[in-house]
Amino acid sequence: MTDTKKYILAIESSCDDTSAAVLCHTNVLSNVVATQEIHKQYGGVVPELASRAHQQNIVPVVHQALAKANIDKKELSAIAFTRGPGLMGSLLVGTSFAKSLALGLDIPLIEVNHMEAHILAHFIEDEERSKPTFPFLAMTISGGHTQIVKVTDHFTMEVLGETLDDAVGEAFDKSAKLMGLPYPGGPLVDKYAKLGNPSAYDFPKPKVDGLNFSFSGLKTSILYFLQRETQKDPKFVEENINDICASVQHTILEILMEKLQLAVNQTGITQVAIGGGVAANSGIRARLKEAEETMGWKTFIPKFEYCTDNAAMIGIVGYLKFEKGKFTDQSVAAKARYAIGS
Ligand code: KG4
Ligand code: ZN
Repeated sequence: MTDTKKYILAIESSCDDTSAAVLCHTNVLSNVVATQEIHKQYGGVVPELASRAHQQNIVPVVHQALAKANIDKKELSAIAFTRGPGLMGSLLVGTSFAKSLALGLDIPLIEVNHMEAHILAHFIEDEERSKPTFPFLAMTISGGHTQIVKVTDHFTMEVLGETLDDAVGEAFDKSAKLMGLPYPGGPLVDKYAKLGNPSAYDFPKPKVDGLNFSFSGLKTSILYFLQRETQKDPKFVEENINDICASVQHTILEILMEKLQLAVNQTGITQVAIGGGVAANSGIRARLKEAEETMGWKTFIPKFEYCTDNAAMIGIVGYLKFEKGKFTDQSVAAKARYAIGS
């Protein structure tokens, strides 16, 4: 009997993670992620180094993904890859690799928008989690993105609001850096915040109309606050790290929750799906749970490995597009700026 199952190999290389995954329909058979440690010493992602590291990682990562899935490349039905948005030098590596492999194997090529993939990650098979039904609101919060999107079906999405400057993950990381914490500081802010008082210090929230966000002003006010306090007491940060982190996190969560509430009010949609690395934050998880209880929202967060950048989320879009015959031809080029729905 011939195997009629479809196997998709997916490749993600938009920022600083090189990842490959194999999916059989909506099931993830493997999802290998090589995180580039080199950027830590620079306190942020260095694009040129990211591109070079992708070139070193891509072949072994793809081999591992195939081996873990126990799939030979000849069994693959299609290759899905991240076309954008992201760092051009990074995207080029995954795009060129995917194009050559699809050409060599003579199978379809499927381009994927990274931001749509963060949202469609909710449709990866997972017995422990229920899936949102259409329409729902998706909020993607990561080191590179902050967006609220109305999702009408798998391929109909409308961006309702996004950040005008820094992403929310950057707000966490830059605040952490001001406190002398190592990069990426988001998880550490979360850790110390658990031990502190969220009302200890007041930081102003930005005044941004509608559903857009702004985080750069918060960073500046934290900078001035810390400068002022350490002038009075050089040990201020050291002695008050828990309260500072709790107050910073509280301000960020207030901004996110206010915008989500506004999006719910404007659309009448109460299903809210979160994704991106910041979805790991224990504070946002608690606030969403609270919203379920007090406001009757239904909230969804994928498994953590599908929140941070990964190829499995590229693979689920690949499979959904494969089913609809949405293929890409070999003339496709990487696209650093690539809005949802464009
Ligand atoms: O999605 P992601 O892995 O990478 C991209 O930016 O695409 O997100 C990484 C971001 C970093 O800014 C990191 O500090 C933040 O997610 N992050 C957190 C937590 N875990 C990761 N921020 C706050 N609390 C956390 N627990
Ligand atoms: Zn991402």
